[in-house]
Amino acid sequence: GGAEVYLCGSNPLSTQDDVAAALVAHYGVATYAIKGEDHKTYYSHIVSCIDARPHLTMDDGCDLVTVLHTKKRNFLRDVFAGTEETSTGVTRLRAMAAGKVLRYPVMAINDADTKHLFDNRYGTGQSTMDGILRCTNMLVAGSTVVIAGYGWCGRGLATRAKGMGATVLVTEIDPLRALEAAMDGNQVVSMAEAVPRGDLFITVTGNKSVIRREHFLAMKDGAIIANSGHFNVEIDIPALDRLAGGRRREVRPFVEEFRLPGGKRLHLLAEGRLINLAAAEGHPAMVMDMSFANQALSVEYLRKKAKTLKKDVYIVPRDIDAEVARLKLRSMNVDIDTLTTEQERYLRTWSEGT
Ligand code: NAI
Repeated sequence: GGAEVYLCGSNPLSTQDDVAAALVAHYGVATYAIKGEDHKTYYSHIVSCIDARPHLTMDDGCDLVTVLHTKKRNFLRDVFAGTEETSTGVTRLRAMAAGKVLRYPVMAINDADTKHLFDNRYGTGQSTMDGILRCTNMLVAGSTVVIAGYGWCGRGLATRAKGMGATVLVTEIDPLRALEAAMDGNQVVSMAEAVPRGDLFITVTGNKSVIRREHFLAMKDGAIIANSGHFNVEIDIPALDRLAGGRRREVRPFVEEFRLPGGKRLHLLAEGRLINLAAAEGHPAMVMDMSFANQALSVEYLRKKAKTLKKDVYIVPRDIDAEVARLKLRSMNVDIDTLTTEQERYLRTWSEGT
């Protein structure tokens, strides 16, 4: 699109160093990101991007926007609009808009149908299992998998785990989502009920301390705990560390064993960070293409319309969403039917019954 681009990580463990290096060497994109960077470096890289005085932000989780609105407020006046990729970022942005602190319009890419129905469901479903299998080599068939959160990611994960032969338990706090999980054929239980039964726990809630002290205490020896939600707060890792009294060691790459009093061992994957990005390669390009098409077309829209928009969170226009679906179908060589004139007329009338 003709922009000058500056890039940083949106999660300390999610960068692929070879990709970051190639972006610098072959594409001249200023890239501030290292896999496994510490907290301080992660935030200093965000600041380095902001120091380039951006006119537009494309965020994933809302850390960049938050730093801009707190520590770098004098750069806000240059920004005309932004986009946000993920559920957690959209939740934070809506909180900012409700609190009247958001200083420019942001498009919630996550909420486009061609994003969350596919990327979150099929992308997270597949790549989360991929990350867990690559680092543990566990046998899913016959195991009990506990999934916390039956949102778009949780639905995808439950389907994949079931397809691989697991018994799936789902925990939820939303009655509608819980009902859907039950009718999709999962066992819906409280986390307290799930902990003594689970072999593998996966959190995808976007919330914090979903698995905590009382849950660790009731887990089976050898239980595996992973997170695929955006931030590393879904599992209360400090509480796990305190329980183990610091008795923790890496037993395989991305697998850390915590030894609890009495000898019970619990295995935490990828420091509780997005397991699909830390231990595998994230979503396949075949699903990210739709998310990034939404990003690109939304940026074009914002460039043209930002002046007419309020400092609020916006939904991707329906025609962009439909265009992305059309393009994706075409790339898959899938033809669909079109309405006949008679059908179009029938759908517009109210007087014609049986
Ligand atoms: P969503 O909002 O559709 O679903 C989250 C679900 O978790 C909701 O149904 C909610 O009721 C439930 N929940 C909240 N607190 C809970 C608790 N204490 N116990 C049980 N359930 C609880 O969100 P979505 O799209 O499924 O995303 C979930 C998380 O995954 C977000 O943090 C999102 O940013 C992240 N994400 C990660 C990806 C990855 O590559 N690993 C890709 C896309 C999203």
